[in-house]
Amino acid sequence: MFSKLQAVSIDDEEINLLIIEKLAEKVGLKVISYSDPIAAYEYVKDNEVDLIFVDYMMPKLNGVELIEKIRRHHQNIPIVMITSITGNEKLKIDAIEAGATEFLNKPLKGSEFLARITNLANLRYHQLLLKDKALLLEEEVKKATENLTKREFETLIILGNAAEYKDPETGNHVSRVAHYSRMLAMSLGMSEQDQDNIYYASPLHDVGKIGIPDSILLKPGKLTQEEWETMQTHPTIGYEMLKGSESPFLKTGAIIAKTHHEKYDGSGYPEGLKGEEIHLFGRIVAIADVFDALMTKRPYKEPWEFDKALQYVSDEKGKHFDPEVADHFVRNVAGVQKISNIFKDM
Ligand SMILES: [Fe+2]
Ligand SMILES: [Fe+2]
Repeated sequence: MFSKLQAVSIDDEEINLLIIEKLAEKVGLKVISYSDPIAAYEYVKDNEVDLIFVDYMMPKLNGVELIEKIRRHHQNIPIVMITSITGNEKLKIDAIEAGATEFLNKPLKGSEFLARITNLANLRYHQLLLKDKALLLEEEVKKATENLTKREFETLIILGNAAEYKDPETGNHVSRVAHYSRMLAMSLGMSEQDQDNIYYASPLHDVGKIGIPDSILLKPGKLTQEEWETMQTHPTIGYEMLKGSESPFLKTGAIIAKTHHEKYDGSGYPEGLKGEEIHLFGRIVAIADVFDALMTKRPYKEPWEFDKALQYVSDEKGKHFDPEVADHFVRNVAGVQKISNIFKDM
């Protein structure tokens, strides 16, 4: 049972080392012996050790000092102090305070020594078992969390696609919006968590269109005033759909759904928010969404040239768009071009 346990024995007298080796081996421990406490310390501090026997009276470093040094590296390993000094209560207390687990007197009584080290080996054995279990558990929890996150992402994509399904804004629109948005979040110095949030949540910007009748959503001609008003409810519908969730992605999705049609100068909808009243997520997705819509063929329009669409983002600084976010978009023209090429519609 203890054959995997490694003991270290430190005593400046060879004969004591031999006695301890013999006894410890009876219990099944492997023993490494040191007559020099400094050399023993050098070994112990860098290695996995399970049980330590320390003499008190040694040149260079006494047993209490050695235990103190070892405890800086190993808090739980059982350490036994063995000394020929008897009747010194203060030494005993010093040793225990330094971190000794047991205190034994020389000459060692074989049966008592065996019983005590069997107990300590048992203690160590169970410490290791617990450590293994904790590691195993940690590993399992990590795996389970990864699986959950992966499934959550899949659900988000499906939800985003559901809205796209009904909408003429098809193709890779939501993927491009996601990538432009993450690029902007990164360029603006947002946290990695927020970059992830916006990447996974921006495909949900139009999820509220699920609640808009097809007769309006798919109408080829111009919308009547009343139809247009109905159309303008999709941000609020999306927000209502997503707002109750605990998931950071859905929470971000709710903010984006609600604010992606707000305009920096206050002329947007549904609330006519102005400037920084509009959540930064919304100000980012507004640019990504509009830029991509301009670049895309729609039943009522041809796709714009890349440069013309980029110029539009510049021209709308302070009007439709947050000037700082728009600057970042234009500054990252190479990234924009790359995303637009990689996710081209067939
Ligand atoms: Fe929208
Ligand atoms: Fe869109």
